[in-house]
Amino acid sequence: MSAGYKESDILSGFQPPFEHFSTQALHVGQDPGQWSSMAVVPPISMSTTFKQIGPGKHADFEYSRCGNPTQNCLEEAVAALDGAKYGLAFASGLATAMTIAHLLKSGDGVICMNDVYGGTNRYFSRVASEMGLETCFVDCTSLKCLKEAIKPNTKLVWIETPTNPMMNVTDIKACAEVIHEHGDIILVVDNTFMSAYFQRPLALGADICMYSATKYMNGHSDVVMGLASMNREDLYQKLKFLQNATRAVPSPFDCFLCNRGLKTLFLRMKQHFKNALAVAQFLEADPRVKKVFFPGLPSHPQYKVTKQQCTGTSGMIAFLIKGNLENAKIFLENLKMFSLAASLGGYESLAEHPAIMTHASVPIEERKALGISDTLIRLSIGLEDVTDIIEDLHQALKAAVRKQI
Ligand SMILES: Cc1ncc(COP(=O)(O)O)c(C=O)c1O
Repeated sequence: MSAGYKESDILSGFQPPFEHFSTQALHVGQDPGQWSSMAVVPPISMSTTFKQIGPGKHADFEYSRCGNPTQNCLEEAVAALDGAKYGLAFASGLATAMTIAHLLKSGDGVICMNDVYGGTNRYFSRVASEMGLETCFVDCTSLKCLKEAIKPNTKLVWIETPTNPMMNVTDIKACAEVIHEHGDIILVVDNTFMSAYFQRPLALGADICMYSATKYMNGHSDVVMGLASMNREDLYQKLKFLQNATRAVPSPFDCFLCNRGLKTLFLRMKQHFKNALAVAQFLEADPRVKKVFFPGLPSHPQYKVTKQQCTGTSGMIAFLIKGNLENAKIFLENLKMFSLAASLGGYESLAEHPAIMTHASVPIEERKALGISDTLIRLSIGLEDVTDIIEDLHQALKAAVRKQI
């Protein structure tokens, strides 16, 4: 990839027989020999139930909520790509969060990165809290703040890196070292923004790596799903039990689509990164832009950490447009090729206004403290030709802001 990054395709941690990311993505869990038809492409197994040999005696599958052949292919592929022993698929990213939170009991403490996806913030502050979990939101990019927040009842630390939408980067390895000094605290990393191609949290010390697979892992904006991977057998067994006990499973059709999306993850991520880097450099040089947040730029405060723990960065960029809310709105309404839409990580370019859209559920004071202002715009840079992407941004900026502002 770009100068100074490690090579994503050949990182250690892959299990035999394949050493390369692309080969793992194409073949692990996909063996045609597992189907009587010898289908090369894993079939969509829609049956909700499987014939038993005798009462309570079944072959590999019993009932689709407890396990499904198409879901299995996906779970094995995800585990391989994260360098993990186990993979699990869930109905959405938030269903994954909810299932992980069920590992805890009333009175347990959670430390959650302060700048996380709005829905994650809402889940911990307004849903998990009602069930007795005590969540505090902390800036985990500061190890000092993290250390100070750890209490005797802390059982889980939830980080998202880079964060949605401010693109803050947490040092996963340093965070894991601090946390694991304090006994059995589970470190969860939301790896949605980087995908398995650019960041492998388990190798850096995380206990669980999770995704909103709705984003890059599927990559085509046509599936809502969550994924988790882990090496600890105890966590796997508990989450597998909860996956069945809470029904938070995806449909076989969605598993088929996501499994297919993973086949091109390595190609897509390389292009997302290449395009986003060019866009970030364009925005940084534009007089109508006040500030750009992109961890692949040397101006990003955690550029060094990013280079240490990632092998590239994704297509996610945030920036402050000059002016006020009106300028931000005019910019968004003037985009021609970009769609003004929530979500991210698909092949197409999207733009959104976090304060009004994805992060509206975060209380206004918290939003202000985090920097989610009226002029903040989030872009998900797609796979279109980069000159067309930049041209669209350029004309919308021109329409929105007069140069002298
Ligand atoms: C970083 C991050 N984590 C989790 C989620 C929640 O995922 P889902 O929408 O699949 O429930 C999102 C959704 O945007 C996200 O951006």
